[in-house]
Amino acid sequence: MREPVLDSNATSSPPPQELLERLKDYGQEDVFSLWDELSPDERDLLVKDIESLDLSRIDRIIRCSFHSQGLPAAVIEPVPETNVSTVEERTMEDRERLWKMGMKAISEGKLAVLLLSGGQGTRLGSSDPKGCLNIGLPSGKSLFQLQAERILCVQRLASQSVNEGSNNTPHIHWYIMTSPFTDEATRKYFESHKYFGLEADQITFFQQGTIPCVSKDGRFIMETPFRLAKSPDGNGGVYSALKFSRLLEDMSMRGIKYIDCYGVDNALVRVADPTFLGYFIDKGVTSAAKVVRKAYPQEKVGVFVRRGKGGPLSVVEYSELDPSLSSAINQQTGRLRFCWSNVCLHMFTLDFLNQVANGLEKDSVYHLAEKNIPSIHGHTLGYKLEQFIFDAFPYAPSTALFEVLRDEEFAPVKNANGSNFDTPDSARLLVLRLHTRWVVAAGGFLTHSVPLYATGVEVSPLCSYAGENLEAICRGRTFHAPCEISF
Ligand code: UD1
Repeated sequence: MREPVLDSNATSSPPPQELLERLKDYGQEDVFSLWDELSPDERDLLVKDIESLDLSRIDRIIRCSFHSQGLPAAVIEPVPETNVSTVEERTMEDRERLWKMGMKAISEGKLAVLLLSGGQGTRLGSSDPKGCLNIGLPSGKSLFQLQAERILCVQRLASQSVNEGSNNTPHIHWYIMTSPFTDEATRKYFESHKYFGLEADQITFFQQGTIPCVSKDGRFIMETPFRLAKSPDGNGGVYSALKFSRLLEDMSMRGIKYIDCYGVDNALVRVADPTFLGYFIDKGVTSAAKVVRKAYPQEKVGVFVRRGKGGPLSVVEYSELDPSLSSAINQQTGRLRFCWSNVCLHMFTLDFLNQVANGLEKDSVYHLAEKNIPSIHGHTLGYKLEQFIFDAFPYAPSTALFEVLRDEEFAPVKNANGSNFDTPDSARLLVLRLHTRWVVAAGGFLTHSVPLYATGVEVSPLCSYAGENLEAICRGRTFHAPCEISF
């Protein structure tokens, strides 16, 4: 327990009356319960903290979100197979055509990439932004660097494919969403690494919002006697953050039409994938997502579903899917009924982003994530309130799903090494395995002093985006694993 302050003027002055009354309107007056123990500076901080909140909006969100919890879950059905472009059905000619179509749009400056990097990464147990993580590849590159170099590679390929003989390299603008928990460290990291070879002005950092954490009865949790516990408002906070930072206008002014939006924690993410963009343009849809087949019933991935008969496609997060449904089997195919996993890689038109940014907030239903939240009581079991990026899908006039192979495009980094799955170690092995296959297919040879399943070669994204153009570097050469192959 803190000692009460001795300054008699301070102890005698009560909390600002008008603010107290407003808090009472929403049942949140307890935030002043330790007022008498605070110093004048601390009181100032607390008052400013509360004044910065839109109390009526937050109250509406808390009430709507708690209310929706008691409602029966929406009826869901598996996504019809016809809604998914599967890997099997795409011929070599299809892939080439889509790649070229995407490259053309990229060379015309119509694609931007949008990175969701505001998460606190608590499962990973590090306070650094997740993108700074070095997963132990031979190059020592971080997730941010791998992504930056893939963008550089696509830019180079786009300029070669369309502007043969010209030096005019198209720029892919990179919007990076941070949160107050990751913003400063992210900016400094990019600056100190000279933006990994990208132009500083082709990157825009912006922050998502935060929202107070609440106890089981909906009251604000105090992190300290003079500060509310807050957390980022989920990756779905991207829509309002884009709107409030006026970045949708910025995109429009740059002539951007399509936005490739992805999570930071996939070591194999194909940022700015021309094939996916080509598919999106070809289909003429407003939103699309890459999907992989779910590996096992308990895998912690959201799954695409259809809401109600003939309803829109949307995602049910793993934390919200009834366990009997996550393990339900389709008796005809023997596969999981809900088998299309969300890998947090979405494509949107700018028009659709505008529509969502102006509409989603009205919904006011946030997801409640039960957590032990650090508080003045040590920890308080309560909720973080979050919107999810995929909450927008039900509003989309048209959505298409694009299957990709998990061993080519999905190496999640969610948990610290030592956990059973989705660790830096497991992600590194997935990268090394894929790149080793590329090198062997391109005519290279490998030696290794540890078993090959535990090592491999890494191909710099500056050389190859998806295994292409490696013959000139690899044919007839022997590489000793582990090592990085670069120019
Ligand atoms: C996410 C997906 C899940 C998918 C899985 C695949 C969401 C809500 N869930 O789960 O359906 O199967 O990836 O790996 O998309 N982030 C923010 N701000 C926040 C919270 C998160 O920018 O407030 C970012 C994170 O930095 C990360 C991404 O969103 O890049 C997803 O993070 P997280 O919320 O941890 O979702 P997962 O549980 O990994």
